[in-house]
Amino acid sequence: MAQDIQNIMILTGAGISAESGLATFRGPDGLWEGHRVEEVCTPEAIARNPALVHRFYDERRAKLAEVAPNAAHDALAALDAAWDGDLLIVTQNVDDLHERAGARRLIHMHGQLQSALCAACGVTVPWTASLPPGTPCATCARPALRPDIVFFGEMPYAMDAIDEAVRNADLFVSIGTSGAVYPAAGFVQTARHVGARTLELNLDPSAGSIWFEETRLGPATQLVPDLVRTLLG
Ligand code: OAD
Repeated sequence: MAQDIQNIMILTGAGISAESGLATFRGPDGLWEGHRVEEVCTPEAIARNPALVHRFYDERRAKLAEVAPNAAHDALAALDAAWDGDLLIVTQNVDDLHERAGARRLIHMHGQLQSALCAACGVTVPWTASLPPGTPCATCARPALRPDIVFFGEMPYAMDAIDEAVRNADLFVSIGTSGAVYPAAGFVQTARHVGARTLELNLDPSAGSIWFEETRLGPATQLVPDLVRTLLG
């Protein structure tokens, strides 16, 4: 596979972190840690019940201390370090497991748990503690810091850079995502349009499986190291 590939774009979702012990969004019971995604991941939800939404992300942020990158994160970090061509890992995940594994060419398109966003002035700041509603922003002094999570209806981060990477890709790989949330679910269509090879690695067939040339089913900790071994020869 590797001979004719220069530029790689990798999209990851909650499935890559599942074996590290982080719950996926659309598990068998359809809940994310006991909540519907809409209860904790919309502008309306945080306006209606800021205490619930802030507490929810405080708990997710605290949980990061209990988990570690797995073999799939490690393999992608190794690929990032060794790959001479262009490579971009775009994650929908708000955990920090890719960077803890050592990945550098990385974009968090849906935000990050360890970041706070000022709803008043738009500045973002690293944040590792709990974040109660009404926490003042150090830049504008308004009591408007919120979790730096891209809620439904908000614009994901770095879409221009992501679009450029997809258009430039010879190989597009999607790992551990249900293909239920756009725009990420549509990247595969752009990749196909520009003639990239498209490969899905997932535990179960996803909503987007029909778009991929090839789907490999299994746990990320097996499939991703296998793929990276093939790519690095
Ligand atoms: P989902 O929970 O929708 O999908 C997770 C996918 O991972 C499913 O298709 C599972 O089959 C697969 N999976 C589970 N365990 C796996 C394993 N060990 N190895 C490989 N695959 C596995 O999560 P996402 O697709 O990431 O948005 O969800 C997309 C977005 O929806 C999230 O980023 C989040 C949510 O709303 C925001 O937080 C803004």
